[in-house]
Order: sequence, then C-alpha cells, then structure tokens
Amino acid sequence: MMSKDFKVLIHEKEIGKRVHELGAQISEHYKKKGAECLYIIGVLKGSFIFLSDLVRSLSIPCEIDFLEASSYGASTVSSGEVKLVRDIRFSIKDRDVLIVEDILDTGHTMEYLLKHLSAQKPKSLSICSFLDKPSRRKTAVKADFLGFTIDDHFVIGYGLDFNNRYREVRSVVIYEPN
Ligand code: XMP
Ligand code: MG
Repeated sequence: MMSKDFKVLIHEKEIGKRVHELGAQISEHYKKKGAECLYIIGVLKGSFIFLSDLVRSLSIPCEIDFLEASSYGASTVSSGEVKLVRDIRFSIKDRDVLIVEDILDTGHTMEYLLKHLSAQKPKSLSICSFLDKPSRRKTAVKADFLGFTIDDHFVIGYGLDFNNRYREVRSVVIYEPN
C-alpha cells in the first residue's frame, strides 16, 4: 500500500459502478451492430486492472490481446514520442476491435495506436478509455467509451503508475511528489 496519504479523486466504489455501466453500454452497442465477438486490445501496462474488470462486465463474448506502448519513462511529462514495445500476436483483419486504455492525455499514444491498428483493416476500431484529461490534448483523438473525465492532475491507482509503482491502489488518487 501507500506510504503517505494521497488525495482520493475517484473512490473504488464509484469506479466499480462506472465500469459496470460501461460494460453494459459497450455490450449493447456491439449487439446492436450485430457483432458476435469483440476483439479487445489492452494497452499495457496501465489498462490491466480496468480491462479485467471491464471484460467481466460484458454480456458479449470477447477475445483479449495486449500491446505495449512506451510513454512517460520516469517522468510525469509526456515526451510526445511513442514507441511500440510489444505488438499484438494475431490478425485483427475484419474484426470488431476495441482498444482499452487507462488514460487519454495528450493523445499521442492513441493517435499512434489508431494508425498502427487501422493499417491491419479491422472491421471496426473503437476506443474505450478509463480516464480522460481533455485539457491536455494535443491531437484530435476522442474516446468512444469513457469512464471519467478528470482535471489536469497526475493520477495513480487502478492500474495507473508512477515509476511502475502504486498500480495496486484500489482508488484513483492524485500523485503529489514532495
Ligand atoms: P498520451 O499523452 O500519449 O499519454 O495521451 C497516454 C499515456 O500516458 C500515461 N499517463 C499517465 N499515467 N497517471 C499515470 O499513471 C497520469 O495521470 C497519466 N497521464 C498520462 C499513461 O500511461 C497513458 O497510457
Ligand atoms: Mg503509464
């Protein structure tokens, strides 16, 4: 657990409720489209807790794969440079693909991933992000399904990290270095 008291921004109970609603919303959307199986691509590592809760709230079958994009390194400021560290293993051609991300910040990571994945000609390609910091956006990227919009804070918990730590914290809390 945490060694100091961070300010809770989104409590774990609120997260649970919202993720459940998102699961229902996503399931309904794809059922209406006639999709029979959703292809979920989690963006490592930050999305892993959100993804595991989300897929258990779906009422439509899914397959799951992961990719990993490098972002901040040891800083809380995005470099704007995105690198693909690990790619998906199987073809997404003609599949209904949903990218699951922890947070949209500048949008550089997602812009890169959209370009990378759309080149493989999926049937559809949508974005589900747990959090959104629209005030920091530098690109036109928008989430199709969104958990919470937040102000410009650096947050940790529920999969989000600082220096690869605090991912296990149950609520989303504001990280304030001292
Ligand atoms: P961009 O700027 O490309 O950033 O949209 C997306 C990635 O940056 C990380 N990120 C954060 N990670 N707390 C974190 O733990 C934050 O407040 C935060 N803001 C951005 C995150 O890895 C995301 O995938
Ligand atoms: Mg991160």
